[in-house]
Amino acid sequence: MSKLWGGRFTKETDHLVEQFTASISFDQKLALEDIEGSLAHVQMLGECQIIKPEEAELIKKGLQSIKTKIEEGEIEYLVEHEDIHMNIEKMLIDEIGPVGGKLHTGRSRNDQVATDMHLYVRRKTKEMIKLIQNAQKALLKQAKDNMEAIMPGYTHLQRAQPIRFSHHILAYFWMLERDRQRFEDSLKRTNWLPLGAGALAGTTFNIKRERTAELLGFDQVYPNSLDAVSDRDFMVEFLANAALLITHISRLSEELIIWSSQEFQFIELDDAFCTGSSIMPQKKNPDVPELLRGKTGRVYGNLVSLLTVLKGLPLAYNKDMQEDKEGVFDTVDTLEGSLMLLAPMIETMGINKDKMFASVSQDYSNATDIADYLVTKGLPFREAHEIIGKIVLYAIQKNQFLLELSISEFKSFSTLFEEDIYTVLDPKNVVEARNSTGGTSLYQVYHQVGLAEAILEKEPVKS
Ligand code: ARG
Repeated sequence: MSKLWGGRFTKETDHLVEQFTASISFDQKLALEDIEGSLAHVQMLGECQIIKPEEAELIKKGLQSIKTKIEEGEIEYLVEHEDIHMNIEKMLIDEIGPVGGKLHTGRSRNDQVATDMHLYVRRKTKEMIKLIQNAQKALLKQAKDNMEAIMPGYTHLQRAQPIRFSHHILAYFWMLERDRQRFEDSLKRTNWLPLGAGALAGTTFNIKRERTAELLGFDQVYPNSLDAVSDRDFMVEFLANAALLITHISRLSEELIIWSSQEFQFIELDDAFCTGSSIMPQKKNPDVPELLRGKTGRVYGNLVSLLTVLKGLPLAYNKDMQEDKEGVFDTVDTLEGSLMLLAPMIETMGINKDKMFASVSQDYSNATDIADYLVTKGLPFREAHEIIGKIVLYAIQKNQFLLELSISEFKSFSTLFEEDIYTVLDPKNVVEARNSTGGTSLYQVYHQVGLAEAILEKEPVKS
C-alpha cells in the first residue's frame, strides 16, 4: 500500500509500527471537522489563485461527496493511511483523481490536526454550555418549587443552622454558573486558527490565513506559526473546566446519596434513576449519583494525562501530541452523559419537606440565635457564646431541646431572657432572621432566584 509520504522510503513500514503509530482508530471522530477545515482551506487556495478556481471547485465537490458518505456510514478507514487526515486525502484522490493531491498545498498535517481539534473543542464547548444550562434550569426549578422547605444546614456534616432547601440547591446553581463562564471564557482562546502555520515555520505560498479564519468563524489566526502547531492549551483548559465541573457534579451527587438514605430520607430519587439489588429485594440504590461521583476519576486522569504529555516537549510538533485526543474524547463523552442524566434526575426527585422540618425541630441548630438574642440585648458575643454553651449542655443532659426549656430555666443562665426567646428559637424564624445579602431568608432566596433567572434569560444558548 503506497503511503502519501512514501517517496523518501525504500522499505515498507513494519506492520507493528504501522499499528503503533496510527491514530485512525480514534481520530476518525474528527472526520467532519477535517472536511470542514479542508473546505475552507481549498476555498482560500482558489481565491488566492494558488490553485485554479475550477480545481478548487472540483476538490470541494469531492470533499462534499466524502462527507455524505461519512454521514451515511459508508466509509471504511484504513490503518495503512495512519490517521483521519491521510485517509480522507486518499479518498479524495480516489474520488476525483490526481487533482485531489492539490488540497494539501500550503498546509501540513501539523496545522491541520490542530485546526481539527480547535473545531472539535469549540463545538463541544458550546454543547457543554447548553447542557450546563439545562442542569441549572433543573436546579432553579427545584428551588422555586420548594421555597418553603426548611432543612438542617451542616458543617462537618453536623447540624449547624437551619436553612431553606432552595438555598442549598441554589448553591449548586452558582457552581455550575462559574463552570459555564469558564467554558465561555476558554472558548475565546479556542477560537484562534492554527491553519496556515504549515509544518512549523509558515508557508512559501501566498496564502491568506485571515480568509480561512473568516470562513471557519475564528476570531483570529495564531500570530506565531510555531505556537500555532504546538499549542494544546485550549484542550488543557477544556479538560480543566471539565474537571472542576465534574467535581461540582460529584459533590451534589454525594448529597443526593446521603439525603436519599434511610437515615436522612430528605429526598426520594425517581425510580427511573435508581436500580435494585440482585439479592436484597428491598434495596433501591442511587446508582446514577454514585456513578456521577465515580466518573471524576477518569476526568481528572484525562487532565493530568495531557499535562504530562505536554510537559517537556520542545517546539514544535512532536508525535507525542497524538496522545492529546483520546482523553478529550473520553471527557466529552463522560460529561455529556453525566449532564444529560443530571438535569432530569434533579427535576424528578421528590422532596420530603416534613422529614426535613422534623429534623430541624429536633436539634440544637437554633443555639446561635440565642447567642445573637443576648448580643442584641447588649452582651458581648463571646460572653453570650459561653452562656449558650452552658444552656445547650444543660438541655442535652436533661434530654430536652432548647424550645422545651422553661423561661425560669433560661433566666437562671441570664436575666436578659424574656418570653420572646421562644419566638426567636422557632426554626422558621431562625431561617427568616438570616436576611443579610446571600442569606437563607425567604426574601434573600427570592432575590437569588431573580438573579439566577436573569442569567438564564440573558445568556442565549449558543448554536
Ligand atoms: N495523527 C497525527 C496527530 O494526531 C497528525 C499529525 C501528524 N504530523 C506529523 N508530522 N506526523 O498528531
